[in-house]
Amino acid sequence: MKLKRVLLPASLLALVGTGATFGGFTGLRAHERLRSGLPKLALVSCTHCHQRSLKTLPWAKPRRHHDAPDGMAVSPDGKTLFIALNDRDEVVEADVASLSVKRRAKVPGGPFGLALDTAGKRLFVACRNQDTVSVIDTAGLKVVASISVGIRPTDIAYCQTPSGERLVVPNSGSNDISVLSVLPLLELTRSAAGREPYAVSVSTDGRRAHIANRMAVHDQVLSQPASEVTVLDPSTGHIVNRVELPSAHMAEGVTEVPARGWVLSSMIRVRNLVPITQVKDGWVMSTGIAITREDGEATQIPLDEANAYFSDPSGIVASPDGKRAYVASGGADVVTVLDLDRLGAWLARSGEPERSDAIENMALSYRYVSARIPTGRNPQHLALSPDGSRLFVSERLDDRVLVVDTSSLKPVGRIVLGNGGLDDPVRLGERVFTNSRYTFQGQFSCRSCHPDGHVDGLSYDFDGAGVGDNLLANRSLCGVAGTEPFKWNGKNPTLQYQDGPRFARVLMRTDQIPEPQLDQLATFITHLPPTRTLPWSRVGQPLTPSEERGRKLFFATQRTDGTPIPVGRQCQTCHRPPLFTDRLLTSVGTRGAQDTTDVFDTPHLIGVGAMAPYLHDGRAKTLEEIWTTYQRDDLHGVSSYWSKQQLNDLVEYLKTI
Ligand code: HEC
Ligand code: HEC
Ligand code: HEC
Repeated sequence: MKLKRVLLPASLLALVGTGATFGGFTGLRAHERLRSGLPKLALVSCTHCHQRSLKTLPWAKPRRHHDAPDGMAVSPDGKTLFIALNDRDEVVEADVASLSVKRRAKVPGGPFGLALDTAGKRLFVACRNQDTVSVIDTAGLKVVASISVGIRPTDIAYCQTPSGERLVVPNSGSNDISVLSVLPLLELTRSAAGREPYAVSVSTDGRRAHIANRMAVHDQVLSQPASEVTVLDPSTGHIVNRVELPSAHMAEGVTEVPARGWVLSSMIRVRNLVPITQVKDGWVMSTGIAITREDGEATQIPLDEANAYFSDPSGIVASPDGKRAYVASGGADVVTVLDLDRLGAWLARSGEPERSDAIENMALSYRYVSARIPTGRNPQHLALSPDGSRLFVSERLDDRVLVVDTSSLKPVGRIVLGNGGLDDPVRLGERVFTNSRYTFQGQFSCRSCHPDGHVDGLSYDFDGAGVGDNLLANRSLCGVAGTEPFKWNGKNPTLQYQDGPRFARVLMRTDQIPEPQLDQLATFITHLPPTRTLPWSRVGQPLTPSEERGRKLFFATQRTDGTPIPVGRQCQTCHRPPLFTDRLLTSVGTRGAQDTTDVFDTPHLIGVGAMAPYLHDGRAKTLEEIWTTYQRDDLHGVSSYWSKQQLNDLVEYLKTI
């Protein structure tokens, strides 16, 4: 590094010097053309290719941590609330009567989801940042055991089955579900889920676990996306059903309603193939609940009203008597109360066509929505005391837990964990990012499409006149700092521009986000680190032999037989490390029938393993497809000489970037 710092200015002088004979300008342009392999490259900044080290980017620097409450669990006697503080690596024990924090325990790995055993003696913690499940002895509030699970576990459920105690853990990053025994703490099975299994609920008898998958998946580019509720038998770990939820997306909460034989999951109804210009008609996104019955039939119902939206539905809980359910809307700062008797009555008397169209009928929600409780900022997780008398709401971006008396539906008070972090510009930016007040009627927030700052796995029609005729795949904001210009067409030079006038015009259909908030938003985004695609245990470890072979292919300058690969077609020329982009517009033969251009912004590849679908319109479902179905004439890197094994190796390597 040091050597480079000396060498670069020195050789720069040499380069300019050489150039000076012909005119320094010509020399530099020749250098850029030669190195980019683009004969017509206009003068660009030297930092397009001579990038700063990743260590200098905002996300790589030390940052402030906050007491944001995530998952919660209530003791069997209803007196104690446990709260996971993911960003602090802590679990808090709070006293419900006095609303005060009693103890805090250090729990490494980013605790996110919590569950208690029947007696309340052991607390199980899903640690999202380091892929572990930890067991805490609640008497001493100390971690007594720990085990590795799949990538990014976000929730955990405990149950007793005929075969013994079980824990069910959705691993959102590896798209699978771990089933563990408790004594001994062992992983028994790991089964494939949908995309991003996120929340789990088990039936009281331990017979079934229902897992909500956050992402919907497109079968084909133009097909309707669908997510699934995965149904699993905790005693065997076997998947017993996959209930498909068409056009349901961002399911972050799931709960059983034993008294009715229902499973409720929160969801966004997404209409991503409809031109986004129809935001005004409320056609792009709305929020709802999916009711899955024991026989597998699922009905989707709206949470919104004709002119009022309650965006980003997340945590959901049902009262033990099956009379009520509560849903947190993270973008609207509201908890909606559903009257399940009235909902049941409506379900019983409506016919099949009425039920299947219900989600489109905003005039329906008044029938079963009995109250909307305003909350602090960004409520995501909910918990209910075992007798149903107290509702706990995590007000994430206020660092507080709201406690609601469920008989009066009035707040009892708040458990204060931190000060809200108002002096941290990154946190202020997160408030803008997660709030829907900047969109028309509050229909969605940035987070609705960029959960955790990442992609939602869908392609959107941003300006087409017809349905689905101008699809653009979503792009991750994690690790995006320094990769400007933005958008697939590379037209937006800064984050402020990307999210300012353009966003207002195309997406929000309302006033532009005010400038101070835009700056906060940009600060938040530049501090989003790349998404981790490897298991935690592999971070910092050497590449496997297959990944190493893939790395060599990525940096290859010649084919296996020694034929040189032209500079302009080497992966590393366009996807130049450390950002894995040259930040230039290039053509790789991917122009589609509806595109008005051949050239696209070279995407950065950091975290690319988690960004499916691929290419600007999302036509490639997997990384492989880029070089099988969608490669033309070796235009996107030279791949014709690869064997099947070599393509696999390359893909394995790409997943480590
Ligand atoms: C299109 C990409 C690109 C751009 C733009 C670019 N360079 Fe380079 N440059 C390279 C590559 C590739 C090398 C080879 C060494 C390496 O990989 O770092 C290089 C090497 C150099 C070297 C070392 C001597 C050499 O030629 O090997 C100097 C000095 C240099 N560049 C200066 C500049 C300056 C000054 C600018 C801005 C006017 C600039 N470069 C713009 C890609 C680029
Ligand atoms: C309806 C879904 C949706 C919403 C809501 C949304 N985005 Fe996006 N975002 C996308 C899609 C799709 C793209 C890719 C579009 C393109 O490249 O033309 C994108 C691209 C971006 C990019 C460019 C990334 C890159 O690497 O070029 C940024 C930055 C961004 N969004 C930020 C935001 C912010 C900030 C908000 C809230 C103000 C927001 N988005 C809301 C879907 C959405
Ligand atoms: C001439 C420049 C260039 C070369 C060479 C090149 N790429 Fe690309 N790459 C691009 C562009 C531009 C896109 C976006 C194309 C589109 O979206 O239609 C892209 C897209 C990708 C994507 C999809 C990213 C996403 O988020 O959808 C991956 C992965 C990728 N390239 C890897 C590679 C590999 C591996 C090689 C070498 C075999 C390579 N590229 C060679 C320019 C290049």
